[in-house]
Amino acid sequence: MKKLVVYVTRKLPDDSIQRLKSQFEVKMWPMENEAIPRDVLLEEVQKADALITMLSDQIDRQILNHASNVKVIANLAVGFDNIDVHYATEKGIAICNTPDVLTDTTADLTFGLLMATARRIVEADQYIKKGQWRGWSPLLLAGQDIHHKTIGIVGMGKIGEVVAKRATGFDMEILYHNRSRNMNAEIKLGAQYCSFEELISTSDFVVCLTPLTSQTKELFNKAVFKQMKRSAIFINAARGAVVNEADLYEALLSGEIAGAGLDVFEVEPIGAEHPLLTLPNVVALPHIGSSSFDTRMNMIDLCCRNIMHVLTGEAPETIVNKEWLLKHMKHL
Ligand code: GLV
Ligand code: GLV
Repeated sequence: MKKLVVYVTRKLPDDSIQRLKSQFEVKMWPMENEAIPRDVLLEEVQKADALITMLSDQIDRQILNHASNVKVIANLAVGFDNIDVHYATEKGIAICNTPDVLTDTTADLTFGLLMATARRIVEADQYIKKGQWRGWSPLLLAGQDIHHKTIGIVGMGKIGEVVAKRATGFDMEILYHNRSRNMNAEIKLGAQYCSFEELISTSDFVVCLTPLTSQTKELFNKAVFKQMKRSAIFINAARGAVVNEADLYEALLSGEIAGAGLDVFEVEPIGAEHPLLTLPNVVALPHIGSSSFDTRMNMIDLCCRNIMHVLTGEAPETIVNKEWLLKHMKHL
């Protein structure tokens, strides 16, 4: 019998997909650091029964219309704004993501970015490596305190909650805003729910962890930065498009806010000429929130398991479109 075909849109380590290879024909885009061109993707999806996709692949109506045999798409990310989930559901395709396995790793990076921005760690590293260090001085590279300050978390999902847990170790006051209350964070971590307006105007650190949706697109704009404290530091480890980047640039340049730590950008990748990268009070990272060896391997493994489950008629472990589950897994 002909083996089912799994197409992977980026080169993954061979041993990470061994189990998948034992059951299916696995085809892969051969480059590690370069996204699959659109025309190649359009071609390959026509021959595939399942896909492992990256957050950099736009899985829109056109791609989905070409994916007539695809039963499951496993996206190597917790976010899934790159996929037209509504249309995929109409087409009967299961969409799987990788929540939970990346929660702690992403929270570590988010908190590290906060610390690096507040204490100017990257700037200080460059200063010393460029041979600019002439001696100790009282206010050399002085930054902002983290301990006992107020952190405001916008998007209190699993990652937000674990960032809050880290903040308790720094004796921070924790505010959050979310569509729904997170009682676990309130009871266990002492986080206080507040309105978005209150959060942005009173926090020393405004940390964005909200998924990108039509409601959160450009949520952080000129008016919002204006309401923040002039000493505020903005951290974004969610999606770039949640921010109006031109407005953020203006706010940083004019001193409306003090700094920004950014792991994500509106259109990725960005080049060194991007205006935000010209500012000394910006710490920028190339979307590496979940990038530890262990976590990336766990994410790949979860994608593989989800694909194996769906292609063998079982329920996936993590699914985005729960409607798919109800329709296809009637016995559950
Ligand atoms: C990363 O940004 C993810 O959504 O996993
Ligand atoms: C966002 O991705 C969250 O889980 O909070």
